[in-house]
Amino acid sequence: MIPTWAQLLYLLGAVAFILALKGLSGPKTARTGNLIGAVAAVLACAIPFFYADLDHVPLILAAIAVGTAGGLYGARTVQMTQMPQMVALFNGVGGGAAALVALLELHEIVELHDRFPGYDVESFTLVATAFTILVGSVSFAGSVVTFAKLQELMTSRPVVFPGLPVLFGGGFVAAVVISVLMVREPMMWGGIALALLGLLVGALLVLPVGGADVPIVISLLNAFTGLTVAAGGYVLSNTLLLVAGTLVGASGTFLTLLMAKAMGRSVANILFGALKGGSTLGAGEASDRPVKSAGPEDVAILLGYADRVIIVPGYGLAVAQAQHTLRELVDVLIARGTQVDYAIHPVAGRMPGHMNVLLAEAQVPYEQLIEMDDINGEFKNTDVVLVVGANDVVNPAAKTTPGAPIYGMPILNADEAKQVVFMKRSMRPGFAGIENELLFEPSTTLLFGDAKESLGKLLNAVKAL
Ligand code: TAP
Repeated sequence: MIPTWAQLLYLLGAVAFILALKGLSGPKTARTGNLIGAVAAVLACAIPFFYADLDHVPLILAAIAVGTAGGLYGARTVQMTQMPQMVALFNGVGGGAAALVALLELHEIVELHDRFPGYDVESFTLVATAFTILVGSVSFAGSVVTFAKLQELMTSRPVVFPGLPVLFGGGFVAAVVISVLMVREPMMWGGIALALLGLLVGALLVLPVGGADVPIVISLLNAFTGLTVAAGGYVLSNTLLLVAGTLVGASGTFLTLLMAKAMGRSVANILFGALKGGSTLGAGEASDRPVKSAGPEDVAILLGYADRVIIVPGYGLAVAQAQHTLRELVDVLIARGTQVDYAIHPVAGRMPGHMNVLLAEAQVPYEQLIEMDDINGEFKNTDVVLVVGANDVVNPAAKTTPGAPIYGMPILNADEAKQVVFMKRSMRPGFAGIENELLFEPSTTLLFGDAKESLGKLLNAVKAL
């Protein structure tokens, strides 16, 4: 029985988790939100030490020390562009831990059942246990494969082989059958078989997903982990786990749906597109059609004499780590009297909020970051749009070419501006692997080179005007 004081502290922790999510919903309050969440998590881990009759305390403390050291080291050393795989790893560990805890609970239930034949367990507890083992294992294996794809430990292209759908479907059906048997009669072999099937289904779920779709799958697996933890909270009669898991499950589901919507695709298409052949995104060919290119000095003149400039940051800005140089350039332009804003597309980069995080790191004031819907009407009155390492988020094919992988995705209306300058290294396409007609428009100029190098030269040239 959990004492009242501990229940009250758990309630406080649950409220803190909700406040943390609220804080994380805006860039200004995100740090505080993160801190509140971290404090609540520490509180939640510490409370059982003060009321529960714990066995193996030194082992538990050693495990906590190893986890803390690994987490701290990972969080401090990870590059911003590696954040999605870091999240995948954290998420997988969460799902795996929940599945292990549920297996231990099952072990206890089976022992009690064997020792006292009349011992009765609520069916719902058994349903929750089976669910936690299965979905936790799916989440663990799926997250490990997503990590391997993003870290390039394996090919990031979709992996499909004959019989994959049958194996996936068969594994899933077998898991459901074993779960039903386990609810009727708790048995340890059932739990272990469920965990193994979960690992198989998790890996097969993610293998056919193309590398750059993986962040959305991470978010989906995150939702799975949340639901697993919530079910684990029910099994362990721990309200805080139940609340925290439900929050993660709900926010992960919303995030998945929002990301898919912002990319103009359905979650089913992202998960199973490769199985149907078609619609899977991947690297495309570099175009050899002629374009108009210019040097930094020419672009500096365009920018230096413009009244209104909009910056469109994209994935390439993160790759080049050019956010500081970009901010310096914008500061110089503003000091010259130019009106400059950053146009933020919801799926620019490779993870939700990628551009916000990147630009916040360079101390760009939040007021200069304008969301797509708020800035799209302004492009037609803009002299120069500077597209820094972005491509798909300004590709008019999203509006004009039915059948294009990005068709239907809302884009930034950069094509409506008087002049567009693209900063990129080559004529290779972006994530969607398709050509961008805007690159060939008469109003478009290309400044070829790594974004950090080009921005450095551009900054010097603007200063020299
Ligand atoms: P992309 O369309 O991927 O274009 C990135 C551009 O950056 C490319 O044109 C590339 O051209 C250039 N680039 C790469 N490294 C560079 C460097 N060091 N210096 C200069 N340029 C560099 O990016 P985007 O416009 O941000 O669009 C994001 C895409 O990712 C969308 O299709 C979106 O659906 C997808 N996606 C987003 C998310 C989230 S949640 N953000 C998740 C999954 C997928 P070069 O190679 O020629 O330099």
